[in-house]
Amino acid sequence: MEIKVLVGDIASIEADAIIVTHFEGAKSPEGATAAVDRALNGAITQLIKRGEIKGKPNEITMVHSLGKLPAAHVMIVGLGKQAELSLNKVRVAVAEACRWLRAREISTIATVAQGAGINDISTAAAAQAIAEGALLGTYTFRKHITKDEDKPGEIKRLSIVGADGLKSQLESGVSKGRIIAEATNLARDMVNEPANFMTPSDMAQMATKLAESYGLEITVFDAGQMKEMGMGGLLGVAQGSQQPPKFMVLNYKGSTAKEPDIALVGKGITFDSGGISLKPSEKLEEMKGDMAGGAAVMAAMAAIAGLKPRVNVMALIPATENLPDGKALKPGDVLTAMNGKTIEIISTDAEGRLILADALSYARKQGARKMVDAATLTGACRIALGDICTGAFGNNQELMDRILAAGKEAGELIWQMPMYDEYKEQNKSDVADIKNVGGRLAGAITAAKFLAEFVDDTPWVHLDIAGTSLSDKERGYQIKGATGVPVRTLVNLVISLAQESKKIKQGGKAK
Ligand code: BES
Ligand code: MN
Ligand code: ZN
Repeated sequence: MEIKVLVGDIASIEADAIIVTHFEGAKSPEGATAAVDRALNGAITQLIKRGEIKGKPNEITMVHSLGKLPAAHVMIVGLGKQAELSLNKVRVAVAEACRWLRAREISTIATVAQGAGINDISTAAAAQAIAEGALLGTYTFRKHITKDEDKPGEIKRLSIVGADGLKSQLESGVSKGRIIAEATNLARDMVNEPANFMTPSDMAQMATKLAESYGLEITVFDAGQMKEMGMGGLLGVAQGSQQPPKFMVLNYKGSTAKEPDIALVGKGITFDSGGISLKPSEKLEEMKGDMAGGAAVMAAMAAIAGLKPRVNVMALIPATENLPDGKALKPGDVLTAMNGKTIEIISTDAEGRLILADALSYARKQGARKMVDAATLTGACRIALGDICTGAFGNNQELMDRILAAGKEAGELIWQMPMYDEYKEQNKSDVADIKNVGGRLAGAITAAKFLAEFVDDTPWVHLDIAGTSLSDKERGYQIKGATGVPVRTLVNLVISLAQESKKIKQGGKAK
């Protein structure tokens, strides 16, 4: 989809359809909607009077212009109550509008800069949200479908129409929105991809290509190198698989510092059968998506490289399958992680924390100043928060608050979970330093407490996306399947860190 900015008046734009908006409770059309209404001899006013247009969120009304406007169709989209308008409501409304038009074979559309100037929403932020809503909402994954029947149409061009003075802000918003949405869709592609097309080697190949096209440093460690580094957790999980494990390290250098300002760590289990602690077969196919954290981290690096914030970011993706065979890890086995801690295996299905233990140890060794990990870690988190909120666990409230804010800006809901030390007790082992399952109670928290053992005092937040990485239905700009969560949160976080370090530097200069 081409997205461009046009200067002018929406009523005079040539497109298959133009989109204007209406707020709930407004008695008559306002702004650009009023101009279109005049051209239509008051048709919109009539519809509002008759109560056919109420302005409820995502309400869609189509009017044919019958030659009164250059555009054949006028869509009036409801944005809800003006006082409640947010960027996320704009994203959702645009996504719903685009899909509605796509289903009716409409291919060129133009919209007003929905949301700009309302409730402190900047013009650039509105344009970004429109671009994100359009690109995320029209995402499809049809790579393995050979038939064209049921194939949705395509919106070829979306124009955002605004006044002359707003052009550069609209354009910068569109460009940022495109970079972030395309990264999110890349993560979705990786998660939707079947496990036989997304092995650890496939992930490594993708990471290498990504690094080449964005100028990132990359290292891919193989099993031999993992052994030298003492990555007993990752190697233990990989033991039962025919596919060789990979450990990917991507580096983005945006500042002159030597160390990474932040390490992003993503769980890369390309298929989780549970191993010897085999999972039941119901919905087992969803476990091809157990690398959603790794995909999100990789995709976020692509967006970060495109946006060029002035910070150093290191991405770490430990990748392996988790399968049972004669060589597989067994309950009762003891592994030694990279930081020297020994782990008693209670369940081979609690594999994510084993590979993350090594990746977090590695990040610390590289001197990462902060760490964030994203992982489809526990069914317990999904039970607790459903598919609505990502669970966040950490050891540093400042970093936590930053992530909560980054998520809010992205419209990716995150809920902070408790990390009281009392929960540590459950992970105590009789035969090793720690065990990999802390019992049935508070499973998401004890998993996070396990990870904390490999983080020590580095500021760190763990995002459990087991519930939010997949959606079982279409909802706003989420489509059925992979959501791409938490790509946009991670990107916003890195941008906010860059802005913070800029502020500190400027403060220093002023002295
Ligand atoms: N990948 C799963 C968690 C998961 C479950 C993700 C459902 C997405 C949807 C993880 O490796 C796992 O199996 N966790 C176990 C841990 C348990 C054995 C302590 C779980 O949640 O059951
Ligand atoms: Mn598992
Ligand atoms: Zn898993």
